[in-house]
Amino acid sequence: MIDVLAPFPRYPLGHLPTPLEPAPRLGEALGGPEIWIKRDDCTGLALGGNKTRKLEFLIGRALAEGHDTVVTFGAVQSNHARQTAAACARAGLRCELLLSRSVPRGDTLYETSGNVLLDGLLGARVRIVDGLDDTVKALEEIGPACVIPPGGSSATGALGYVAAGLELAAQIGRDPGLPDRVDRVVVATSTTGTAAGLVLGLAHAGVAATVEAICVYEPADVTAASLDALLEETAELIGVPVPAGGRQVRDDWFGPGYGVPTPEMAEAVRLFARTEGVLLDPVYSGKAAAGLAGLVRAGVIGADETAVFWHTGGSPGLFVYPEVVREPC
Ligand SMILES: Cc1ncc(COP(=O)(O)O)c(C=O)c1O
Repeated sequence: MIDVLAPFPRYPLGHLPTPLEPAPRLGEALGGPEIWIKRDDCTGLALGGNKTRKLEFLIGRALAEGHDTVVTFGAVQSNHARQTAAACARAGLRCELLLSRSVPRGDTLYETSGNVLLDGLLGARVRIVDGLDDTVKALEEIGPACVIPPGGSSATGALGYVAAGLELAAQIGRDPGLPDRVDRVVVATSTTGTAAGLVLGLAHAGVAATVEAICVYEPADVTAASLDALLEETAELIGVPVPAGGRQVRDDWFGPGYGVPTPEMAEAVRLFARTEGVLLDPVYSGKAAAGLAGLVRAGVIGADETAVFWHTGGSPGLFVYPEVVREPC
């Protein structure tokens, strides 16, 4: 297999490969397939999560281009912002975070705890921006910088998940403690870099699995269009074809909006915690887990299949949604 990632600068940040763990009690509770959890909540950078892999390539490029400052964007409780702050601290770069109020919450807990609390600890400068004019003004004030798009989802960022797809492929069948095949990969999807990279990485490695991209940010039509565009761009960057299939975008577990809790999400967060001792988050991995449970219960993921739940992290978000955590047993 050609090493399609070799030409790209990469700054090591993650504890990789992440574990691929069996989840037998979860599988039994769902009455369905063999389930494994890919623990990207354990990527090791400032409480982990999926952005670590993207940032290895994004920071690698920023350093290669000689930048001393990084700017990025996100919601007030952005995991991407927290991870970028940590990556910049590691790489000795100045980090500027432009955060927007994209979730219908304005309470003190939401605006001061969880990820945004850690951004400051990690040395980033946080600016809350309100609309395009505010953002333009902040960018002018900051001056020359490497601008990383929301979620780190440029083609360069998606390379992290091409690498992740190759990593999963190398784990399949490697020893008796690992699955001998994978039929589905279920993953939370917002800015689509994670799903795009996985689709390309798995296809390049010859793994015939379907990536079930569970929408948490925008409806399926909008998310699918973003995913297709990023697939094209990333495939072109690494010189591979875009596979015809290998993906399904679903918004059945999106609920009323980004960052708005749903009963299915809350149930899935508790199910993972109580069957496997695994902490999800209310905004991303919790909704993806609701998708996994829903697909199994609907028989879309068959009892004879092997499914990987790709845990993308985000657990600091639990602390700003206490109502999801506190429900009595
Ligand atoms: C915890 C978590 N899971 C999943 C995602 C979605 O990843 P992507 O933006 O690459 O679709 C994000 C970021 O947006 C995230 O913070």
